[in-house]
Amino acid sequence: MRKTLVLTLLAAGSALMAGDPAKDLPKFQGGDLQKYWMDACARCHGVNGNGRDNSGKPLPDAGFDFTDSRKANKKKDSDWVKVTLEGKDKMPAFKDKMSADDAQKMIAIMRKFSAK
Ligand code: HEC
Repeated sequence: MRKTLVLTLLAAGSALMAGDPAKDLPKFQGGDLQKYWMDACARCHGVNGNGRDNSGKPLPDAGFDFTDSRKANKKKDSDWVKVTLEGKDKMPAFKDKMSADDAQKMIAIMRKFSAK
């Protein structure tokens, strides 16, 4: 009960400070997909894919820790492409922002986060 309240307040607080992370998502214009991760995905998933901001604080809308290799290795590339294009719950759909081909290429970036 108490924990839920604290979490709710935290979520509300960071939403107020950061704005809606799904707003103003840029379109992929070609070029560097790593840069596109920074521009379009890192606001929720973190620069390193671990769902944390630069100070190590968990981001409110991360949803998945790409550095958790045990979990990431169970995921299929095709599922990740699908979620990227079509979205899922709080994960926005990117089908208007990037091609299926680019979404497929983006998988390599997400796989690198857990490759250690
Ligand atoms: C507004 C926040 C937000 C942004 C921006 C965002 N994501 Fe997500 N993403 C999420 C959330 C939340 C989930 C978890 C969805 C669920 O399973 O309920 C998720 C899940 C995913 C998954 C599935 C992980 C799994 O196996 O469960 C992939 C792949 C993914 N995101 C890729 C991307 C890529 C690539 C980008 C940038 C092009 C991106 N995301 C941008 C919030 C975001």
